[in-house]
Amino acid sequence: MALHDILFLHADPELFAEYDRRFGDRYEGHSRTHLPSRFVELYEAAKNGGRTRTEYIDYQSIDVLLSLQRPHTAHPAEMSFYLVGQAKELLFKLVYEEVSAARLALVVDEADNASWNLRRAATALDLLARTWDVLATISPAEFNAFREQLGSASGIDSYMYRMLEFALGRKSDSMARRHAEVPGVAESVYRELHRSSVYDEALGLLHRRGLLTDGAEAGEWHPDALRQAWVRVYEAHGPSSDLFRLGETLMDLAHAFSRWRSLHLLLVERTIGNKHGTGGTTGVDWLRRSADHRFFPELWEARSILPMGAPLW
Ligand code: HEM
Repeated sequence: MALHDILFLHADPELFAEYDRRFGDRYEGHSRTHLPSRFVELYEAAKNGGRTRTEYIDYQSIDVLLSLQRPHTAHPAEMSFYLVGQAKELLFKLVYEEVSAARLALVVDEADNASWNLRRAATALDLLARTWDVLATISPAEFNAFREQLGSASGIDSYMYRMLEFALGRKSDSMARRHAEVPGVAESVYRELHRSSVYDEALGLLHRRGLLTDGAEAGEWHPDALRQAWVRVYEAHGPSSDLFRLGETLMDLAHAFSRWRSLHLLLVERTIGNKHGTGGTTGVDWLRRSADHRFFPELWEARSILPMGAPLW
């Protein structure tokens, strides 16, 4: 049990009694002035035995969520930056959960169920892309007022974002290494690094359905074989086919992800110009290269070789 556990156990009388036994003295006299005011509020409420929470608060731990905003300066723009950053992390998690569910559905050949999850993931990514508009209202001077407080903090160390990239198929040892020493995080990051991606599972399904037949070397499909497989899907199958819908929903997701990256790049350029990033990269130049990356590359490339004329379906 730790001092901050008041955030989670204040509504449970038994746990609170134990907490009070261990930490009650910290809430007495002068020592309480060192505690976050939210801790004191919750402690007082629990001590008085009153349930001050509603089911709404309990259901989504709203009070815990709303106690997690701790900007480092009094500058009002920092709160906007802080909240948008937190909202983005929650949305990355949502996209990751949906992509993970889609991956499982593909393992058991349920292409339409996978598309259903991917559709929600792509819609959440669209929402993520729109959040850059809020940050674009922060002027460079406003941002500079608190930028130093970030130290070396940078989105490049967002492990939720990185796990999402890995789950979609962009595996990177060097990016995983950034989390190698972080307790409680490294294990999840490395597990995702070595797991098959949602794209691997989609290709496995194309293989089982006879659309991806040759071109495997040392367990890896040759990119030509992959491009041809997607061309076959688009030529021979229309919207009534689950494989066609899978291809287009994967594309929706990849498209939304690339839009997120491009809009991030634009936002960064308008806010810090060519200054280096807090995460140690050259900033805009580095992000521009990252924005060129495409998830599910053969799905994009298949567009270039699809024959002209009406499809076969
Ligand atoms: C004005 C606000 C922002 C600026 C100026 C900015 C700037 C940058 C820069 C320069 C980088 C390159 C890495 C580095 O050296 O730091 C980067 C990477 C990144 N940022 Fe931001 N950022 C901003 C807001 C955000 C927010 C709110 C998020 C959401 C959590 C975010 C997520 C990311 C991610 C995930 C990367 C890594 C991208 C990749 O691996 O391709 N950024 N950012």
